[in-house]
Amino acid sequence: MSSTDKPKLNLPLKIRVTLSLISAITNASRRPNGTVNRTLFNFFDRKCSPNATPVNGVSTKDVTVNAEHNVWFRLFTPTDDVTVTGGDTDTKSASLPVVVFFHGGGFTFLSPSSLAFDAFCRKLCREIPAVVVSVNYRLSPEHRYPAQYDDGEAVLKFLDEDKTVLPKNADVAKCFLAGDSAGGNLAHNVAVRVCKEGLRKIRIVGLIALQPFFGGEEQTESEIRLEGAPLVSTSRTNWLWKAFLPEGSNRDHGVANVSGPNGEDLSGLDYPDTLVFVGGFDPLIDWQKRYYDWLRKNGKNAQLTEYPNMFHGFYVFPELPESFQLVLEVKDFINKNRVSN
Ligand SMILES: *[C@@H]1O[C@H](CO)[C@@H](O)[C@H](O)[C@H]1NC(C)=O
Ligand SMILES: *[C@@H]1O[C@H](CO)[C@@H](O)[C@H](O)[C@H]1NC(C)=O
Ligand SMILES: *[C@@H]1O[C@H](CO)[C@@H](O)[C@H](O)[C@H]1NC(C)=O
Ligand SMILES: *[C@@H]1O[C@H](CO)[C@@H](O)[C@H](O)[C@H]1NC(C)=O
Repeated sequence: MSSTDKPKLNLPLKIRVTLSLISAITNASRRPNGTVNRTLFNFFDRKCSPNATPVNGVSTKDVTVNAEHNVWFRLFTPTDDVTVTGGDTDTKSASLPVVVFFHGGGFTFLSPSSLAFDAFCRKLCREIPAVVVSVNYRLSPEHRYPAQYDDGEAVLKFLDEDKTVLPKNADVAKCFLAGDSAGGNLAHNVAVRVCKEGLRKIRIVGLIALQPFFGGEEQTESEIRLEGAPLVSTSRTNWLWKAFLPEGSNRDHGVANVSGPNGEDLSGLDYPDTLVFVGGFDPLIDWQKRYYDWLRKNGKNAQLTEYPNMFHGFYVFPELPESFQLVLEVKDFINKNRVSN
């Protein structure tokens, strides 16, 4: 292979078409003046309602946290008898870990009722098994930083105080924060907040960041090399940061360039053990690896799992074997940490 031959991403036609459609729709909805045409985007964002009738061993319902801010979550509950490895063998009383999930979409798009996230959370719920809480937070640019983190924290506080909303066997002392893309950024920044402020009953024993969205003013080597990869481009991420961050600040803000000089000091915090997933064709991979390195440098327990042939957001395509492999790795991580922590 000559040095000019770049490795190529080989994807089935159906996935390539879907990715181009998502790109085209998000492009068309993002206006040059920094606003979003919601009518246009919502027309294509197929949603599903909660369903109390178990489907493949999972039932769902939506729970309101703050009506004024439209903060709610979709609760996914496993309905089959569960056997939990490594812990209680009495299936009836076996306790279940709680996974609080933040969806991706650049802080700007999508919700827990978007089909792809509903399906992904159902899969997590069934396979782990776990009680999954998928958070609906306010979106930018209508609501900028820190609305998204406020809403994430509000959901945790709500769960910390309300004893009745989760199923009886949900063990909030074994709680995990998880999120993909911008949701991975939320999981991190919400974790930092609750580490500082503390919760009463909830203990965050692990964090799962699926290709988290971090960035900065600098253009990294992977952002340059992978220009043209699916879903993520520099012009797109620059637009998203501009829509999200406070007016007048730049991408070196501490919640974007988390490992830079404006980032939080983690050294004194009881930050949870963290699993970071990255993909070889994700332009954000360099930022994600910096996040991982920074956690390690601060003495935190962090683990990096790389899927060399995958792109940003691959896990929402169930037809890719790597999508299910990722769910199994999340399951392993959760079952290990719920026993050891
Ligand atoms: C969407 O916009 C980006 C630049 O922001 C461009 O690279 C990409 O080709 C566009 N995609 C489609 C399908 O229009
Ligand atoms: C942005 O453009 C849209 C459509 O042209 C318009 O309706 C909206 O008022 C504009 N918003 C701002 C803040 O300029
Ligand atoms: C949103 O986009 C659609 C389709 O391009 C357009 O017909 C509509 O006028 C836009 N709405 C606003 C408020 O900009
Ligand atoms: C952004 O982070 C990188 C390290 O990841 C650092 O080299 C750079 O100086 C940072 N920029 C600022 C101003 O925070």
